[in-house]
Amino acid sequence: SKRTMSERPKAYLTQKIPVDGTGLTQLQAVCDVNMYDEVEGGQISVSRERLLKDVVGANALILPYPVKVDAELLDAAGSQLKVIATVSVGLDHIDLKECARRRIPVGYTPDVLTDAVAEGTIGLTLATARRHKEGVQAVSGGSWGSTWDSCLYLCGQELRGATVGIVGLGRIGLGVARRLRAFSIGRLMYCGRSPKDYAGEVEAEYVSFDQLLENSDFVIACCSVNPSNHNLFDAAAFKKMKKSAILINTSRGILVDQDALYDALSSGEILRAGLDVTSPEPFPPDHRLLTLPNCLVLPHLGSASMRARHAMVDLAVRNTLAGLRGEPLETPVPI
Ligand code: DGY
Repeated sequence: SKRTMSERPKAYLTQKIPVDGTGLTQLQAVCDVNMYDEVEGGQISVSRERLLKDVVGANALILPYPVKVDAELLDAAGSQLKVIATVSVGLDHIDLKECARRRIPVGYTPDVLTDAVAEGTIGLTLATARRHKEGVQAVSGGSWGSTWDSCLYLCGQELRGATVGIVGLGRIGLGVARRLRAFSIGRLMYCGRSPKDYAGEVEAEYVSFDQLLENSDFVIACCSVNPSNHNLFDAAAFKKMKKSAILINTSRGILVDQDALYDALSSGEILRAGLDVTSPEPFPPDHRLLTLPNCLVLPHLGSASMRARHAMVDLAVRNTLAGLRGEPLETPVPI
């Protein structure tokens, strides 16, 4: 029988996705697509209020981090909602228990972004270690000429020979570890819930969180977050770190107690920090962490490469289409 437009499933996207990619075309071939594509109050992502209205009647929901999926949103959408596809590997914005209770499958995007995040983490590590924030500020602020009189001008730290501690040797942590080996680092340590059988490949030693803090010149957080590691980096953790230590976080902002980090960075408890993630996001531009020359903050760019983002969107669309057909998703959230 002939299908009318109104019988086509409705897909709601909380954000514009690339119109030149294959994902949107594939989605439009099957669904009526409603894609939020406006700027509201200076924000490109949809407001909660607007989302609760727009989502009504959707059969599929595609969203990036950090659009919150909870009972209220699922109620607003209605019982015809068949699938949720997040354009992220992180899942902390989604109430998975609530989705499972309602038997709504959730798809996410592991693997396709691992290389991009690992590269981004290395980039942030080097930029933080070599004081690029202060360098950029010196150039644009005109203080370059007056200070280029010392051979130690804006000198930073090398990865070469350093002890590096990776918090969370998962897909992304392993990608970071492999790349770090090319920089002739010294020891490589990692901590996490359990030792990994593949750690030998990168010669990484499994240690406790405290051992990692006490020994590392660089501490790189690549773990996923859960209620038990909120504020993992608190005042006590910073006290255990070397005064020369550099903290890098490309996981989630909630991992770090930002007040304690401010104190640690301004008192010299630790040397420097590079944060790709903050709490909240977007980060308030008047936040006092941004006043510190030794704190480099990026707007969550870890997976922001053209290739990775296209691949993430395409995978989210494939998950969506499978869910609408009632088939298993290509990358379902492990429950
Ligand atoms: C992810 O995939 O979780 C990244 O943080 C981008 O949202």
